[in-house]
Amino acid sequence: MRVIDHISDLHFCRIDQRAADALLDRLNAEPAHLVAISGDLTMRARRNEFRTARAFLDKLCMPWIAVPGNHDITAYYPWERFLNPFGRWESLIAPDTEPMFEDEEIQVVGLNTVSRGGLHLQWENGKIPRAGLLRALRRIRRLKQGPFRIVVAHHPFLAPPDEPHTPLVRRGERALRDLARSGVRLVLSGHLHVGYHNTHAVTAEAGDHLTVLQAGSAISTRLRGEPNAYNRVVVENGRARWTAHHWDGEAWR
Ligand SMILES: [Fe+2]
Ligand SMILES: [Fe+2]
Repeated sequence: MRVIDHISDLHFCRIDQRAADALLDRLNAEPAHLVAISGDLTMRARRNEFRTARAFLDKLCMPWIAVPGNHDITAYYPWERFLNPFGRWESLIAPDTEPMFEDEEIQVVGLNTVSRGGLHLQWENGKIPRAGLLRALRRIRRLKQGPFRIVVAHHPFLAPPDEPHTPLVRRGERALRDLARSGVRLVLSGHLHVGYHNTHAVTAEAGDHLTVLQAGSAISTRLRGEPNAYNRVVVENGRARWTAHHWDGEAWR
């Protein structure tokens, strides 16, 4: 059995400090085997925001992996944005924007869906670069069979069931098919600041399902009609189940 706490969209330094302190206490009180963070650690990709985010992560007593979100590349320094968009992330958060965690029961692979922009106007919705997807698929296929396979990415691959027209990451449908065929059964993502899950019926012969699990914003005050939230995922006997935990202004429930 493995437990993963899935947190997302922290957005330092626009945070609810009480929710953040209480979240740290809660995560450390019942430590998961892994904390998976699906992007938007900062608000404007400022160095002090990255440093504050890193200080938060340093207080976690368990392993963690994180992928960047669209807020984690600078909008203020175009040359940096286009020539070295993840330089701040790599120097202040982690050396890799496609991290990985593997043990006897789970394999968790990070996929970077952040777009620098360019000609595509809706860059904030993200895209799955062909090279990045191929890298992830190659890594997954080299892993040993058996453990439960999970991908962590910032942008949503599937819409909320009751809002089918929600903008999604570009090339997401194709990526889901490829990931499912490679044995991935769960995608953890964020960006919308709304928690939900949706299931992709895999067309592959396996006949199995891949579920996209979205987390709300863990501690940011940029809310979209839902309280701060995170997901606790339990993987057992080849299946995953999860519970959303919400901040009610006083405590995590
Ligand atoms: Fe966000
Ligand atoms: Fe985002």
